[in-house]
Amino acid sequence: MSNSRETNAEKYVAKQFVKESSRAQAIRHALESDGKLGINVGAAEAGLLQFLLRMVGAKTVVEIGLLYGYSTYFMAEALPTGGKLHSFEKSPENFARAKELLGSDDVSSKIELHLGDALSELKKLGSLQADVIFIDADKNNYDNYLTWAFEHVRVGGLIIGDNSLLWGGVYNEPAADGPKPSAAAIESMKNFNKRIAEHPDYNSILIPTREGMTVGQRLR
Ligand SMILES: C[S@@+](CC[C@H](N)C(=O)[O-])C[C@H]1O[C@@H](n2cnc3c(N)ncnc32)[C@H](O)[C@@H]1O
Repeated sequence: MSNSRETNAEKYVAKQFVKESSRAQAIRHALESDGKLGINVGAAEAGLLQFLLRMVGAKTVVEIGLLYGYSTYFMAEALPTGGKLHSFEKSPENFARAKELLGSDDVSSKIELHLGDALSELKKLGSLQADVIFIDADKNNYDNYLTWAFEHVRVGGLIIGDNSLLWGGVYNEPAADGPKPSAAAIESMKNFNKRIAEHPDYNSILIPTREGMTVGQRLR
């Protein structure tokens, strides 16, 4: 979640380091006209996701939280031919918009969309081992998604959680101008960060982007 309040630093990073495709641009415009711009990651964060995926040579990615597919399309661009990105969305309206906006091209052919509550839908992936799992959905379930992710990321792969500062909620100073996280969301996000930070099998950090992005790499 970022771009409606994008800082000059983020704009600079995006302009200098990130290439937004015409399809990603169209998705951004659709978000804007539907009053949803800012729920998606910003272009700078989308570039960061591409960077991380390429660093670990990702071929199989799971995204929890599709919205209109802005982050999805960027990540799919970073996958090789034959790569696969599974993205989960609970809202039928968002799912339908994403399907239409992602269209069909060489990049979107790597994307498989799943409609429904991610906690139950993820089970359909069975024993799949992912190179990257990107969590960007309901904040009160981050702790639960992490439990799933610990079992489904390969050694060397990444678990990434967006908005992990929870607008100040994780350090008990909710921002006056940001969303007001619920007590359940605060507890879940604190647990998410604590469990991945303290897990002996993970090398992890919370990248202090404006809203925070936690990244943990499985070591063993
Ligand atoms: C922050 S948005 C995702 C933004 C997207 N990753 C991007 O940057 O373009 C979160 C999305 O997760 C969806 N969502 C919320 N709870 C969910 C759940 N339990 N299962 C699946 N999707 C869920 C919401 O409907 C929303 O579209």
